[in-house]
This record gives sequence, C-alpha cells and structure tokens, in this order.
Amino acid sequence: MSTTYPRPRGTYDILPEDSHRWRHLEDVFLDVCARFGFRRIITPIFESADLFERSVGDTSDIVEKEMYVFSDRKGRRFALRPEGTAPVVRAYVENDMHMQGGAARLCYMGPMFRYDRPQKGRYRQFYQYGLEVIGSNSPAIDAEVIGVAGLLLCTLGLVGWKLEINALGAPTTGDAFERALVEYFTPHRDELCEDCRTRLEKNPRRLLDCKIPGCRAVAKDAPVGLDYLSPEDREHFDIVCGHLTRMDIPFVVNPRIVRGLDYYTGTAFEIVDDRLGAQSTLIGGGRYNGLVGQVGGKDQPGIGWAGGFERLLLALDEEHIAAGEPLRPVVTVVALGLQAAAAAPALAQRLRLAGLAVEYDPDKTSMKAQMKAADKSGARYALILGDDELAKGVVALRNLTDGAQQELAEMQAIALLLENK
Ligand code: HAM
Repeated sequence: MSTTYPRPRGTYDILPEDSHRWRHLEDVFLDVCARFGFRRIITPIFESADLFERSVGDTSDIVEKEMYVFSDRKGRRFALRPEGTAPVVRAYVENDMHMQGGAARLCYMGPMFRYDRPQKGRYRQFYQYGLEVIGSNSPAIDAEVIGVAGLLLCTLGLVGWKLEINALGAPTTGDAFERALVEYFTPHRDELCEDCRTRLEKNPRRLLDCKIPGCRAVAKDAPVGLDYLSPEDREHFDIVCGHLTRMDIPFVVNPRIVRGLDYYTGTAFEIVDDRLGAQSTLIGGGRYNGLVGQVGGKDQPGIGWAGGFERLLLALDEEHIAAGEPLRPVVTVVALGLQAAAAAPALAQRLRLAGLAVEYDPDKTSMKAQMKAADKSGARYALILGDDELAKGVVALRNLTDGAQQELAEMQAIALLLENK
C-alpha cells in the first residue's frame, strides 16, 4: 500500500521475516573476526565532513558526488559516514590506541550512506561490515586480513567468488607512475569527461577509476601501477602472494584494480562475484599506510576491507543458501475458558522466566484459532490450559510434531520444554 511518507529512495525496510538473515550474517561475521582476535568498535554515524574529504579524497566520487553533508544548528559541517575506515582511524588516533601495544585489530558493522543511483546491490543507505589492522606493515598481516574475508565467505557456505589482488604502491605526487599516466591521458584529453580533465591536473590516479564508458575505454590501455612499484613494494607484494598461495586461498593478480578511495598505498584487493551483475564487488580493501598520519596521529601503517550485507545476501540467494533460521517460539500457550485466560499471562511469564520463547495471544479464544496460530508461528509445543487442567493443577503438553499429548505438572512441563528447546 502506498503511504503518505514513503521511505527515501535507495533505502529499504528489513522486515521481520527477513531479519534473521541479517542476524545470521552479524553473528557469523563477529564469530569469524573473533577467531582472528578482532574486537568490535562502534563509531558515530556522522562525523566531521572534513574527515572524509581529507582521507577518502576530495576528488573521489564518494566525496565529490555521493556524500550526505549537512550543517548543524551552529553551522558545523558534518557528513553521514560513507565508509568506515576514516572513522575507525579517527577513533584510533583520538583514543590513543597506539599506546595499547601491538597492532590494533578492529572490526565494525553498521549503516553507511552514499548518494548514488540506486540499483541491485547499490543503495543510499547500506549495511557495511569491515575490519582494520592498524600498526603493522607485515605482508603476513595483508595475507591474514584477506584470510578473514575468505574464511567468512567459506563459513557462510559461499563458493562462487573470486579474489583479485593488486599493489598500488605508495603514491608520491609527481612520481613516475603519475607522470606516465599524464603522458598517456593527455593526448586523449578531448575524449575525457569534465571530471577526468580536472583529475588529469589534480589527481591523475583517479583517471583509472572513472565509471563513464568513454573514459573507461581510454583507461583500458593506460599504464598500470604494478609496473611502477619500488623494489620494496614489489617484494612486499610478492611475499603477500606467497602467503596466500600457502594458505590455499586462490587469487588472481589484476593490475587494473584501482579502488575508489584516495587513501590506499599498497596491496589492494577485491572479492567479486560475477553473478551479481554490475555491482559485483562483495568485499574491497587494501593497505593505507599514510592515513593515520593524515588524520593527525603518529604515522602508523594500516590495512583493512569492507563489504555490504546486501550483496552478501544476493550471493547467498544465488547459491540457494538460506542464511540462518527464523526465530520461532518453543511453545504456544492455549487457554480455553475464562478462568484459563485469567491464568495464562502469568503462566507464560513463568515459562519465559525459565528461558523459553513463548507465544500467547489473548485475542484468540477458540481452540481452533489458537492451534492455527501455533502452527503459523512454527511452535513445536502447545501448552493447553482448560478448566479440567486448572481444577487438577496440571497442564496438557502437546507435541505439535507428532500430536502426542500428556498431562504434566507445570514444573515437569517446563523441564521437558527446556530439554527440547
Ligand atoms: P568500498 O569499496 O567503497 O570500500 O566499499 C566496500 C564494499 O561496501 C563494497 O565492495 C560493497 O560490497 C559495499 N558497498 C559500497 N557502496 C555500497 C552501496 N552504495 N550499496 C551497497 N553496498 C555498497 C570501503 O568502503 C573501504 N572503507 C574499505 C576498506 C576498509 N579499505 C580499507 N579498509
């Protein structure tokens, strides 16, 4: 039905019949993270707009076109967070987490916001999960971080994904790679979009990231960063690849991966599932060794990745994987007659106190309506309370799977239900 106030374009409601799938993803994600020693961090949903402009980059699509920026009543500029890395790094710096010794392993999930044209797998509010390791530049950490993503997808039962990796190399303005890009793109200037002409002057690396078909066609044969790596960066990348091979994580090197955010400096990777269509990247991430310094902290290397639950669910659908089970009550209380109806709420409360999920609907009075409700909710037992049972001080417990029914004292019924919940 249409409403006077429909939800904003590019957003969605997660209805109760689906919410168990989200819960399942949250549980599996946190469980897999815990196996690697990651602890959850929860940061605000809005941050100073400058934080993203400075870190994600003011020539990136996210900042230029997609950020929800607003001013508060005192005229301070904020942004709904478009991604999680900059806020996590901000929190790391602000809370002196480098003092805790060793690299910080932080994971997070929650809504992010990007104003983009909505389509399958792309929303204006989406639910992102991700992790960051701040304080280590070891190539073993790159491999381990990628290993978390692989294990997450395997644990969910997904098999149809592909890991692509690349090395971007630390960007220094005017370096050999940038010069090569300018040299390559300048003769094609007229074929480029307005934005790319600006990028040619301001941030040539961004030329590789434009989504406009004309620009993509030109970028197809552009130089790739992998050919311009310093010997140290090359060695780092080779070690990462060696670890991945020994960890049995299949990957392909794709020198065309650029990533859409400015903070990347080294290993970059994407996990793609081609069956998802245009929005096929399940997970994307990489190394950002300059970001902590940029955000005002003492220089620390960092690496991480993030993905969206929505695309994960699409991938699960593709592979016909159910993702968790809907919550259902263990028992439905069926009250027959006025006296039983008076006793039922307290009975339900005692059962819940014992730890059982209980359904009782006082608006249904007939046996038929109450049994139908029990059937619909998927309860495995009905606890029937009628005048007879009340008089005898017992309850009738019916197993809804096989129809077997027995009269029990309330305490016995609770014990049996707890045993079988
Ligand atoms: P990103 O590539 O911008 O990277 O986003 C990561 C993932 O978030 C995407 O691969 C996709 O699964 C999901 N995603 C992004 N935008 C949308 C959208 N509009 N609708 C639905 N899903 C979306 C980052 O955000 C970096 N912070 C990742 C990172 C962490 N790098 C290092 N650490």
